[in-house]
Amino acid sequence: MSNSNQHLLAVKQLGVQFQTPDGLVSAVNGINFTLDRGQTLGIVGESGSGKSQSVLAMMGLLANNGSASGQVLYQGQDLIRMPKPDLNKIRGNRIAMIFQDPMTSLNPYLTVERQMTEVLEFHKGMSRKEARTKAIQALDAVKMPEATRRVSMYPHEFSGGMRQRVMIAMSLLCEPDVLVADEPTTALDVTVQAQILILMRELQRDFGTAIIMITHDLGVVAGLCDEVMVLYGGQVMEQGNAEAIFYRPSHPYTAGLLAAVPRLEDGDSPMLAIPGSPPNMARLPKGCPFTERCAMALPQCGTERPVFAPAAHDAAVQRACHLPLEVVTQNLQRLKAQQGVPA
Ligand SMILES: Nc1ncnc2c1ncn2[C@@H]1O[C@H](COP(=O)(O)OP(=O)(O)OP(=O)(O)O)[C@@H](O)[C@H]1O
Ligand SMILES: [Mg+2]
Repeated sequence: MSNSNQHLLAVKQLGVQFQTPDGLVSAVNGINFTLDRGQTLGIVGESGSGKSQSVLAMMGLLANNGSASGQVLYQGQDLIRMPKPDLNKIRGNRIAMIFQDPMTSLNPYLTVERQMTEVLEFHKGMSRKEARTKAIQALDAVKMPEATRRVSMYPHEFSGGMRQRVMIAMSLLCEPDVLVADEPTTALDVTVQAQILILMRELQRDFGTAIIMITHDLGVVAGLCDEVMVLYGGQVMEQGNAEAIFYRPSHPYTAGLLAAVPRLEDGDSPMLAIPGSPPNMARLPKGCPFTERCAMALPQCGTERPVFAPAAHDAAVQRACHLPLEVVTQNLQRLKAQQGVPA
């Protein structure tokens, strides 16, 4: 069923809709990407932009009032239309997920050992004893000190950073092809964040795992990702080569996010957020969803939705914006100057 020129994962026109008392809400609108072995895709955007729902839809984990459209082809098979028993063989096995909040996905009443051995017994048919050895190896691989002793502890006995390591170890138990990490470091302090990111890079190097990394921090993306997708109001504002976008964003929203990246050397200087707040998903404007908050919006921005198309300056980037690139670049320089960052 699989052939050599096929992508590991190909997502086509993925959409997510929710039935709400306010009517039908489109939380994600037609996203597209491909992922090959060992590659990393970053998904960035502010709170509510549709990052989590995109990946939950891919994994068949939307809430009951949600439905997914489009295609999610894993080795050529569409996960969205796959019968549940088949999907269960892929989830947690070939495609694993690290959730935004580890306490919601770790069972507080079971030891880490039991939670890890269960996965291996189910997916790999291992005996309890083999599974225990493998679980300890997995904890070692994520540099958990004293793994042999700690494997029999309960989730609440770990610190936040250690719990996140348990999650990573658990997601890697079956050596998945794809690891989906939903803000795996947000709740952690900066030093632990850095350690976890280094760890993920090492694991990727050793196992060739492809990673989808969700974050609202473009700094994280720059260090880890090959490609990045920038979401706003459930729509892709800009997508393409991560380095190109980090050094030369072509969308004012990306520029705003970049100007808001906290810098380590500043100590505790306040982070400059983009003024205004994300749009009401039930009442998106006709034109570009970012119009209201865009310092450079043209009259047409509010009325005509910009086409998502390759950027004139760089074929490795696609964007949806009416503004010329120079205007976006000038504005980013102005934002950086306001913060005293050298251009
Ligand atoms: N069950 C639901 N019913 C209705 N709307 C929902 C439901 N779940 C999520 N949404 C809406 O979908 C949109 C996208 O949510 P999503 O969880 O993907 O945001 P996010 O980008 O992951 O944000 P965060 O950074 O806060 O995690 C939001 O507007 C949210 O309110
Ligand atoms: Mg989320």
